Amino acid sequence: MYAFAEADDITFQLETLQDLLDPSTRMVLDSLDDPTGQEWLEIGHGLGSIARELSRRIGPTGVVHATDLDARPVPAPADGAPIRTFPLDLRTDELPRRPYRGIHGRLVLLHIPERRAILARLVDVLEPGGVLVIEDWYCPEPPRVLACADPADEKVFTEVVAGILAVLRGRGADLEWAAATKEAFVEAGLIDVRVTRSDADCAGPGLAHRLYACNARQLRAQLIALGVDEGLLDRFQEVAAQPGLVTTGWRLMSTIGTKPDPR
Ligand SMILES: C[S@@+](CC[C@H](N)C(=O)[O-])C[C@H]1O[C@@H](n2cnc3c(N)ncnc32)[C@H](O)[C@@H]1O
Repeated sequence: MYAFAEADDITFQLETLQDLLDPSTRMVLDSLDDPTGQEWLEIGHGLGSIARELSRRIGPTGVVHATDLDARPVPAPADGAPIRTFPLDLRTDELPRRPYRGIHGRLVLLHIPERRAILARLVDVLEPGGVLVIEDWYCPEPPRVLACADPADEKVFTEVVAGILAVLRGRGADLEWAAATKEAFVEAGLIDVRVTRSDADCAGPGLAHRLYACNARQLRAQLIALGVDEGLLDRFQEVAAQPGLVTTGWRLMSTIGTKPDPR
């Protein structure tokens, strides 16, 4: 089951994720052909910032379909493509057949054990010549602490983030999947497969550290069940908010491939 399916603070978590990752995703979308008038599918849309970004790029003559476990509506921007949301569990539900010219998903397949079977189904519903973009974090280890006010804080940061990663693994996440996606795309029959990476260092009480703090609050019960000390969790909230904390970032790997067009 998705680790954050029942978490509190989910809106704050998703807003932070969007603010952190949307600039990288926009650069990936910039590298694709002009999508004006196309029909796209956004999987696991969360709060929908990328569905809206696609809508803006596609314009009123195309359409964006956006899907998640619940069908949270996503308002389309003025002069954008309409955004049609619908609920879908990627593990079990059939994907509607449409002439999708593009499919995008970010931080979704990483969490779902059936990711390779889902990838094959995404390729199946993609139009020949269409493009698949899958973005996930490569995050098998906690980020490295590069600077912090008190050397003891490094241990606090590393232990709690290692705990978060252990909880995610226990819920079926594959934290190394991002590095295997290129090979999975090729196996699924896609061509012109390429990967872009971004992994900026994270400083101060910025978005990345805010996200770790939020995740540690959301997964507090599971972290305690794993044996993480409650005092350490409380201290972590302070450490993650420190202006002097600098860590490496997780690497976002964006894999892009095209479905062959036999015509
Ligand atoms: C980490 S959030 C990322 C949200 C959004 N893609 C973004 O990057 O801002 C993961 C999203 O995947 C969705 N998700 C998890 N498991 C899913 C499943 N089995 N089927 C469909 N969506 C799923 C969650 O509901 C959540 O919205």
